[in-house]
Amino acid sequence: MMIYKTDEQVEMMRKSALLVSKTMTEVAGVLKPGITTLSLDKMIGDFIRDHQAVPSFLNYNGYPFNSCLSVNDVVVHGFPTKNELKEGDIISVDIGVILNGWHGDHAYTFAIGDPGADVMQLIQVTKESLYKGIEKAVAGGRIGDIAFAIQEHTEKKHGYGVVRELVGHGLGKNMHEDPQVPNYGKRGSGAKLNEGLVLAIEPMINLGKRDVYTEDDGWTVRTKDGKPSVHFEHDVCVRKTKADILSNYKPIEEAERANPNLFTKSLQQL
Ligand code: MF3
Ligand code: CO
Repeated sequence: MMIYKTDEQVEMMRKSALLVSKTMTEVAGVLKPGITTLSLDKMIGDFIRDHQAVPSFLNYNGYPFNSCLSVNDVVVHGFPTKNELKEGDIISVDIGVILNGWHGDHAYTFAIGDPGADVMQLIQVTKESLYKGIEKAVAGGRIGDIAFAIQEHTEKKHGYGVVRELVGHGLGKNMHEDPQVPNYGKRGSGAKLNEGLVLAIEPMINLGKRDVYTEDDGWTVRTKDGKPSVHFEHDVCVRKTKADILSNYKPIEEAERANPNLFTKSLQQL
């Protein structure tokens, strides 16, 4: 069942999404070689709680941390660890909050030093594909239009692997609501989009093949070929002519560019 939000509810959800963006901006400011992902996770949990919200991932289906921190070949749901980040790593940071009962959930991938031109292109193209998907999140369209746009740009145009096992989702008072939002599919297929539907659109794109596996911890999803994977996620509200993006990458991108430990040279502004 799809739950449409009133304008007032969308404004509540914008606050939740923007708290995630604010938390992500903090992360962008401190990322550097030598930092552990466990210390990042603690910072994320503290920051969210300091803002009258709770980290929604913690205890969700038994998930044991505040955030998902996925390094290199980890696609999503990476556990924070005592391992230090090093020059040339990429890290996908996925953060969720509940603020006043409403969920915000979005993700961003950073490069700690130069991971190489191929990986930087993967980061650029995955982010582009997110916006191409968002362009299709308009009333009268279908879920398949979003899915197709993402798959076209990543798989067809660049030969990347589009993960099939994990999908985006509706968002609201629950983290996962209908409909599912796959990153692959046919134009004109799937659920019809109407105004007030809030979606978390989240391409998970592999440099190599699309195949993934889940580790014995029951969570950590890795690429089978060991090549890196990138994840970007925005929360958007379907509107008549143009989706309303509730989360905000602007402050994150500013902090990213201002942090000399993060590699941004080959990234184009979107
Ligand atoms: N962004 C992820 C999702 O949409 C976050 C879920 S991680 C979990 O599913 F730990 F909370 F499950
Ligand atoms: Co999500």
